[in-house]
Amino acid sequence: MGALGLAPSAEAATKAPFQPPRPSDFRLRGRAAARVLILGGGVAGLAAAYELGKAGYHCTVLEARDRVGGRNLTLRGGDRLTEMGGAAQRAEFGRGQYMNAGPARIAQWMTTMDYCRELGVPLEVFTNTNAEALIYNESAGMDAPVKWRTAKADVYGYISELLAKATDQGALNGRLTADDKERLLSFLADFGAIGPKSGGYAYTGTGRRGYAVDPGAGAQAGTVLGPPPSLSDVLASGVGRSLSFEFGYSQAMLMFQPVGGMDAIPRALAEAVGKGRIRTGAKVTGITDRTGGTRVEYVQNGRTRAAEADYVIAALPPHILARIPHNLGANVQAALGTPVPASTGKIGIEYDGRWWERDENIYGGITNTDLDLATIWYPSYGYHGRSGLLIGYYNFGSAADAYARMTHAQRLRRALDQGAKIHGPRYRRGVTASVSIAWSRQEHIEGGWIGWPDRGAEYRLLNEPQGNVYFCGDWLSHEIAWQHGSFESARKVVTELHQRVLKS
Ligand code: ALA
Repeated sequence: MGALGLAPSAEAATKAPFQPPRPSDFRLRGRAAARVLILGGGVAGLAAAYELGKAGYHCTVLEARDRVGGRNLTLRGGDRLTEMGGAAQRAEFGRGQYMNAGPARIAQWMTTMDYCRELGVPLEVFTNTNAEALIYNESAGMDAPVKWRTAKADVYGYISELLAKATDQGALNGRLTADDKERLLSFLADFGAIGPKSGGYAYTGTGRRGYAVDPGAGAQAGTVLGPPPSLSDVLASGVGRSLSFEFGYSQAMLMFQPVGGMDAIPRALAEAVGKGRIRTGAKVTGITDRTGGTRVEYVQNGRTRAAEADYVIAALPPHILARIPHNLGANVQAALGTPVPASTGKIGIEYDGRWWERDENIYGGITNTDLDLATIWYPSYGYHGRSGLLIGYYNFGSAADAYARMTHAQRLRRALDQGAKIHGPRYRRGVTASVSIAWSRQEHIEGGWIGWPDRGAEYRLLNEPQGNVYFCGDWLSHEIAWQHGSFESARKVVTELHQRVLKS
């Protein structure tokens, strides 16, 4: 009944409490702030440096890439993107256009929102679901896409009809009292917009499906889009599969994005940490844990260097860490090799006009398909501007691997061919620039995220310090592939390290 909205809703959940380290913690206990080397300048590494820095820890961040942020990458006109074994691309997007190549949405409950507040990163709504966006399942034999609103009206309508019939005919008598039945029928009449008992509670479609001619003035009542396909055809189309997406805790509207690009978050973190504490182009080549300290070797500008510190926070992807020589033991090595990297990719396509807004009333949101492009994302910024940039594919797994093997020109061609099945021939016209990313081929990252076969002994081992070395990242959280996971992991490690330093 809760799921149907007939029971009181739950209270907002609470986050794990977090108290950042404070300078006074040291003064009170007569301790000194420790030196910490942070390996990896992605969101987790930067967040750890930021929080430790509040109490005066001496942090140095070593980042192998030439910019911080890790997978939090926003591409704008003039940016170059190189891929392992691939040609370099240069983004030719116009002024004000950008593509969030990595994270692109934030749920309201996520710790990421707290960091945006604290760091002064301005936010705007990111439209994750949109009634005007489309659903298209080619393998189900759909000959044209349907709007989300139409799919919802039909799926909810027919489900309501079936449940109303079953209820009325007494099929649920063992479960429902007479009062329950009355209330459920009343709910279903509203939820599914179904007809009366006299007509067998039939779903016949309403304006919720959309209009062939919109309502207007005077006698123009509008022409409802219809009639709906049969129940059997709606089930066969598979459109219902898309609908539960918006029920997910992490994907439900409202969602948010930083104004001007997701990389506002790592930029603000790096600013707060202090540029002088971050070394980019510094690739870690060795980690040694010793009694009372650590030593890290890295290569920067072709020269091998070494740094020493009391502690290390290793905030690199596990499969990258697994290739770096260390003396942390065979169990750690086996654990680092356990998570499996997952592929994902995106293409940003800039057009000389915002036809999706002008001709299709789509202002943001996501089209879902069973094509290998998986999803098309319409921009949640720049409405009614002269040009616009959409995400022509955001896909995963084998589809992402297939695109990863192509050249950029091939990816664009395929994305346009596939997208034209949904938006027609206009989809191929007016393209002014494009950039594609295959995360499996991004140097020093090599994946979109990771999956644990199970969160077993290996997960627990790496969530504990190994000597003076701590591990950190979304991969050590229960929100993998979200910045929230990175922030939460950073907070956990910072808390544990600080408690240890105060006791030492
Ligand atoms: N967090 C990633 C997304 O929202 C996986 O697509």
